[in-house]
Amino acid sequence: MKLNVITKSTVCGLLLSSFLATAQKTNLEVDLTKSITKIQPTMYGVFFEDINFAADGGLYAEMVKNRTFGFDTPLMGWSQPNSNVHSLNKESGMATPMRTSENPNNPDFCRIIINNDKGYQIINEGFRGMGIKKYAKYNLSLKAANHNNAIKKIIIQFIDVDKKVLGETTIVPSSANWKDYSTQIVATATEAKAQLKITFEGNGTIDLDMISLFPQETWNNRKNGLRKDIVQLLYDLKPGFVRFPGGCIVEGRTLENRYQWKKTVGAVEDRETMINRWNVEFKHKQAPDYFQSFGLGFYEYFQLSEDLGAEPLPILSCGIACQYNTGELVPMEELDPYVQDALDLIEFANGAVTTKWGKLRSDMGHPTPFNLKFIGVGNEQWGPQYIERYKVFAKAIKEKYPNMTIVSGSGPSPDGVFFDYGWDELKKLNAEIIDEHYYKNPEWFKENAARYDNYDRKGPKIFTGEYAAHPKGVEDGLKENNWLSALSESAFMTGLERNADVVHLTSYAPLMAHVDAFQWAPDMIWFDNLNSYGTANYYVQKLFSNNKGTDVLAITKDGKALTGQNELYATAAKDVDKKELILKLVNTSGKAQDIEVNLSGKKVDSKGKMILLTNQNLEEYNTLEEPTKIVPTEKEYKLSGKKAAVTLPAYSLVILKLKMK
Ligand code: AHR
Repeated sequence: MKLNVITKSTVCGLLLSSFLATAQKTNLEVDLTKSITKIQPTMYGVFFEDINFAADGGLYAEMVKNRTFGFDTPLMGWSQPNSNVHSLNKESGMATPMRTSENPNNPDFCRIIINNDKGYQIINEGFRGMGIKKYAKYNLSLKAANHNNAIKKIIIQFIDVDKKVLGETTIVPSSANWKDYSTQIVATATEAKAQLKITFEGNGTIDLDMISLFPQETWNNRKNGLRKDIVQLLYDLKPGFVRFPGGCIVEGRTLENRYQWKKTVGAVEDRETMINRWNVEFKHKQAPDYFQSFGLGFYEYFQLSEDLGAEPLPILSCGIACQYNTGELVPMEELDPYVQDALDLIEFANGAVTTKWGKLRSDMGHPTPFNLKFIGVGNEQWGPQYIERYKVFAKAIKEKYPNMTIVSGSGPSPDGVFFDYGWDELKKLNAEIIDEHYYKNPEWFKENAARYDNYDRKGPKIFTGEYAAHPKGVEDGLKENNWLSALSESAFMTGLERNADVVHLTSYAPLMAHVDAFQWAPDMIWFDNLNSYGTANYYVQKLFSNNKGTDVLAITKDGKALTGQNELYATAAKDVDKKELILKLVNTSGKAQDIEVNLSGKKVDSKGKMILLTNQNLEEYNTLEEPTKIVPTEKEYKLSGKKAAVTLPAYSLVILKLKMK
């Protein structure tokens, strides 16, 4: 039995390690009739934060950087190679940033004066370039005010690094007043680092604003929407929830810089551009061109959650700026607007169309409620200042929305004085769900597979809201998503699932990163301007989430859970709807191990499925060029009698699925 299930494997290393299995079997027991607890539909979710160019330059498919000229340096992202600013060439032209009080949310625009139509141009560099695909269509839109109708034509072109034109279109600006224009460009070649060049026919002055470019093809083909390939990766995870918008971005480096949801809804052009807090966070990873357009705002977030079939889980500022930065506090007597923001967000998501915020949601295109059930108060806050603010939020939210589940936080570490203090206080307050964060080395993850075994079953539920194994001594961020990190996380996750009675939500963090513009690694999904791929960590998440089951069953060795004995970890579940038994087995050792699971209580089909994620090199990792080095393989599995025998290859996560009779 042991080997015939994998003899057709295409993974040679796997076969070899299977042959090397020890003679000694590990005998496990699973009673299929004894459901220990339910697994929440929210068990495996995703954590989205605009870090690593995850929103602008990433998920949000806008290709023009600084489309509103609203960056602190208003022409950042734009160049004018032959302007008369540089050459005193009076025959050329010049772009001047302008600021008006007429539109307080988008006060900036660009005034262009053309002295001679023979070559003046402005070029947008995109987010480390623009990814264009041959024959694909791109929607270009802009606002223009053509003074005296002097400019006869605007020519818009894709160019490559050698300035070769890769597609073009034109706009005839027909009004002296602000007017919206749109057109389409078809790319004539595929290019990862294209730029957008704009030239003008005629001499005179023209004002430009909101110069925007999107692929026509987006997720669900929504105009000016989200990148299809990246959402597809999220969709495939089948996430139970989407946490948004972070992360420290919720808090801001200062209170002024905190994330304010009301500034992210309504017409896109009225959403004020703001510096991204990760712009200057890390000295070694400065990103001076990192701003937030909020084109991916709270409406788009709720819509995305709905598309993914996931519960939205917004996290809001509780009036404390990031305690690693300024730690600015709003005085208690001035906390009201922050609390009101939380109440209004619930109204925006769920309120009737006759309410102020429900009407805005409806006007934006979604009259039916988004059915928000969770709301988080604060991100990584700690100390008495958090507790006293949390109390005010919790009281106000519960008074108005008694059914809303409130998520509170225990700070940035999985232990220590602040963690203990936060937990003690929140417990006294009967907090419903507490968010825990840990970025630790792989050993920690393996050693902590039993972390929740002794948590109070009657206490608050757990939201493992941010976690990732960070291998030590790896300087290059991309390499940090190695198999060692992913395998260690899978060992740890067996402990999350075994404890599904207390652990209700979990999410790896951060979710995604641009290969040319990241601040933080490891990350679950990596992308450039054309392509994206899942890391080994992504596939671990996907396997757990896609094979979650509805009820935890006990899987034991000598009556004890497998939490690392002989470097083995396990969890068992059944899916009562699909009538399936699901065993997740992790072998973190460098040797193959033979397992025999005695299945009692119910009969199972003799034919099932075995899913395997493995690599014999713990340092291996997927890349854009080779995105499938570590991906799951699936094959038929055959059972003989009541025992499920399997050889776990060295360094492997194995999932066995058997139909229950
Ligand atoms: O995930 C990256 C950051 O890590 C988050 O913004 C923050 O909450 C944590 O410290």
